[in-house]
Amino acid sequence: MSEVLEAIAKRSSTRGYTKEKLTKEELDTILHAGLQSPTGTNKQEIFFSVINGEDPIIEELEQEKMALRNANRGEHNAFYEAPTIIMLSAEDDFRWSQVDAGIAVQSMALAAESLGLGSLIVGSVYDAMRGGKRDYLKEKMQIPAEKDFQIALAVGHKATEKEPHTYDAAKQVAIV
Ligand SMILES: Cc1cc2nc3c(=O)[nH]c(=O)nc-3n(C[C@H](O)[C@H](O)[C@H](O)COP(=O)(O)O)c2cc1C
Repeated sequence: MSEVLEAIAKRSSTRGYTKEKLTKEELDTILHAGLQSPTGTNKQEIFFSVINGEDPIIEELEQEKMALRNANRGEHNAFYEAPTIIMLSAEDDFRWSQVDAGIAVQSMALAAESLGLGSLIVGSVYDAMRGGKRDYLKEKMQIPAEKDFQIALAVGHKATEKEPHTYDAAKQVAIV
């Protein structure tokens, strides 16, 4: 099986990480996968903010997420305490921003898998990134003014393993 097919087959959401940091080479490889991803009209509009999982802004984001839900903080933050978090942002008024962000985040997830790392695609901070603290959070994450959060990827060394999900192709596919 090719490396790409193997990574697709093996990738699974990781919801538990060791404290080990990514090397610069690992981070560069993952970012390259995002930057090399296709975008509608080759606009290359996705902005990638790389954040240390221990940065206080991550806890502030978690508090904001829970406040918006009127809920107490749980055992884990949205990123399951991953050492590295990559926030993807883009203009809401570009037709393909969400699609492009989705393609880029999966490319990066596959790159992480290929490097033996775990990852988790995270959308749960969406409302918090766009609520009353939007401008403050964007500034701390160096997100350009014209762009907004689309999706995030948590990355790190796996502390937990989970089998890839199963699916029912008969329900989801029509060969016309
Ligand atoms: C757009 C999107 C948003 C997601 N947001 C979250 C999230 O906020 N928290 C979480 O734990 N998992 C999140 N996931 C992971 C999904 O729950 C996961 O991909 C799905 O359960 C299938 O499991 P697998 O990734 O192990 O194949 C998200 C996945 C996608 C594609």
